Amino acid sequence: MVKVTVCGAAGGIGQPLSLILKQSSKISHLSLYDIVNTPGVAADLSHINTQSKVTGHVGNDQLKDAIIGSDVVVIPAGVPRKPGMTRDDLFKINASIVRDLATAAAKYAPKAFMCIISNPVNSTVPIVAEVFKKYNVYDPRRIFGVTTLDIVRASTFIGELIGAEPSTVACKVVGGHSGHTILPLISQVPGYPKLTQDQLEKVTHRIQFGGDEVVKAKNGAGSATLSMAYAGARFALNLIDAAFYGKQLVECTYVQLDSDKQGAQDTRRIIGNELEYFSVPVALGPNGVESILPIGTLSPFEQGLFSKAVTELKGNIAKGTNFVAESK
Ligand code: NAI
Repeated sequence: MVKVTVCGAAGGIGQPLSLILKQSSKISHLSLYDIVNTPGVAADLSHINTQSKVTGHVGNDQLKDAIIGSDVVVIPAGVPRKPGMTRDDLFKINASIVRDLATAAAKYAPKAFMCIISNPVNSTVPIVAEVFKKYNVYDPRRIFGVTTLDIVRASTFIGELIGAEPSTVACKVVGGHSGHTILPLISQVPGYPKLTQDQLEKVTHRIQFGGDEVVKAKNGAGSATLSMAYAGARFALNLIDAAFYGKQLVECTYVQLDSDKQGAQDTRRIIGNELEYFSVPVALGPNGVESILPIGTLSPFEQGLFSKAVTELKGNIAKGTNFVAESK
């Protein structure tokens, strides 16, 4: 019996994400929460002939009912980017939305695995962590920033470039989830043909700024929703498989490095001690983060990317942490 709550379920990501989750036989209750339109989305999805029960909850008064007892809470609530905006520009609006949803989860589903999609992920994950600390229910192994779209994009773009079937291209993407903080480790892709420096720089840039391609193409109508729904569902379903169905699965995800102190040692040797949160390959299991796996050796090019990322990522983390400290 696995209850999953999607917060922001009526949105551009929330609807197709819920549609994919509804198709899973691993979920017994799909609870849809938003500040608008969830009764309609829930009624619609509930006609699909899979076993999970679907409930719709709308507005703050129904948030407790939506979230209570959840095993997994997925949060794609908040505003998306418009052309010319960075993810950090969303902070002002999305920070308080994520804080309030995290507060409800801390009160009514303190053991839930929290999957954070709302941007800026580099800051919203520390916000959720700080809220959980405030309520004394913090377990760093259970809070994840969903960076799966970066991994999905990396395999697609590298696959296109080298003429390989995209889903067979396994590229770790570490760091954060915004522009220069996204660090694809292309030098470690198994069996990849050597790229020229120009190809390497171009494909790296495309992975880092792939979100901008979509924002520009949608021309004011939002950011990635369908590819994000695919990526978010992949992460949530893998987490469910690992946590509740005994499967051994690895995903890169943005976590507090303390979630596995020993496993983080290898990462710390490479990135130093300045960053509390980092996207790393994580072995998922019954407690969420079972272990943090080695990120491997960075090539000189990747080392250069990392140096560029540190200041921005550090600032993003501090912004999220301070936001909760300064909230009443
Ligand atoms: P959207 O505007 O289509 O949907 C957002 C939904 O959140 C709306 O239905 C809205 O009513 C709802 N919402 C607003 N305040 C809420 C609250 N307090 N409680 C519950 N629901 C609330 O936006 P879209 O395109 O679905 O994007 C959602 C978020 O996901 C954005 O922050 C976006 O930047 C982020 N995103 C993250 C990605 C990632 O890789 N992690 C990729 C793409 C987008």
